[in-house]
Amino acid sequence: SITPVILCGGSGTRLWPLSRKGYPKQFARITGPDSLLQSCAKRLSGSTETLQFAPPVVLTNTDFRFMVTEQLLQVGIDPGAVLIEPEARNTAPAVLAAALHVAATDPNALLLVAPSDHVIPDTPAFHAAIQAGVAAVESGRLVTFGIAPTHPETGYGYLELESAPDTSGMAKPLLRFVEKPDGKTAKGMVEAGNFLWNAGIFLFSAQAIIDAYADHAPNLMPPVKRAVDDAKSDLGFLRLDPAAWATADSISIDFAVMEKAGNLSVVPFTGHWSDLGSWAAVQQESGVDSDGVATSGPVTAIECENALLRSESDGLEVVGLGLKDTLVVAMPDAVLVADMSRTQDVGQVVKTLRAKG
Ligand code: GDD
Ligand code: MG
Repeated sequence: SITPVILCGGSGTRLWPLSRKGYPKQFARITGPDSLLQSCAKRLSGSTETLQFAPPVVLTNTDFRFMVTEQLLQVGIDPGAVLIEPEARNTAPAVLAAALHVAATDPNALLLVAPSDHVIPDTPAFHAAIQAGVAAVESGRLVTFGIAPTHPETGYGYLELESAPDTSGMAKPLLRFVEKPDGKTAKGMVEAGNFLWNAGIFLFSAQAIIDAYADHAPNLMPPVKRAVDDAKSDLGFLRLDPAAWATADSISIDFAVMEKAGNLSVVPFTGHWSDLGSWAAVQQESGVDSDGVATSGPVTAIECENALLRSESDGLEVVGLGLKDTLVVAMPDAVLVADMSRTQDVGQVVKTLRAKG
């Protein structure tokens, strides 16, 4: 079976004011009745003809722990373990902690690392990609999932293949993993045709990823191992040891391990994928009408064009009249009105607000 390792500790600011420090986007219902976390856990549960999922291991922080279990129980999923990170140290320590935790009982267990905040609507296609990855993982490789790039995005990792990806859907050896290149490099990679975006989803055996950390991020091993060994059970949660955890470097798995490892493979994923990296992405995922307008909640859009209008409060009617290229997100305590071309800068708004105090 495959153990999902769900990363649920991020606090995205680019979907402010919906995504908040105390309520980040993975818990929000953005495109359907389930939250992003619930959709993620559902597509990695149960069994298919060829795949069988074990209960997930979820990594989160103290503030979100009850929200995690409540949302999972709502969709009938009982997590195998919820590991609490005493403070956010980015994804590299988190994934290592999960791998050590699982390896303590089964070093050969297969782990599917999944961010909790992505949109992947075609579950059968996703399962087929995972199945293609399993074949490669069994020979000890670390499997990534690649998305055909549409523009020179600098917020993603890039996966270099020997040649342009074919349609076989099979895992291919990876030449190089480049995390968050600058704009010029990204442009060159998209033009070259043999690069895919890293979806941020990984498949490997617990032992293979532990070995990769030992080789490429040896500094992380002692603190994270100690944090796992000294973890305390707390109301059904497993709290990693704070003193040990505090001494682990804060770094992403992409920089700490993936850029350095020589045994990567990639499965091209051709199903739809979005990491909802901005309000513009949410607009696309929400299904726009013929004028490019998407709405959510008690909203009326009159003669608008290229707009996203959301009201996140039942009692708050939002009306747009003659708006063009405009984003409106109304929360009970904050309203964002922005030009649609500026959605990449929303994270900056949050920094400005925090500085104001
Ligand atoms: N538990 C936990 N703890 N989760 C975390 C932490 C943490 O400290 N930090 C981030 N996460 C979660 C986020 O909530 C998200 O679901 C996932 O881990 C990835 O973190 P991001 O911060 O969103 O990474 P990114 O978007 O900059 O880059 C990654 O994803 C891209 C695709 O969306 C990389 O893997 C890129 O290579 C990739 O292209
Ligand atoms: Mg992300």
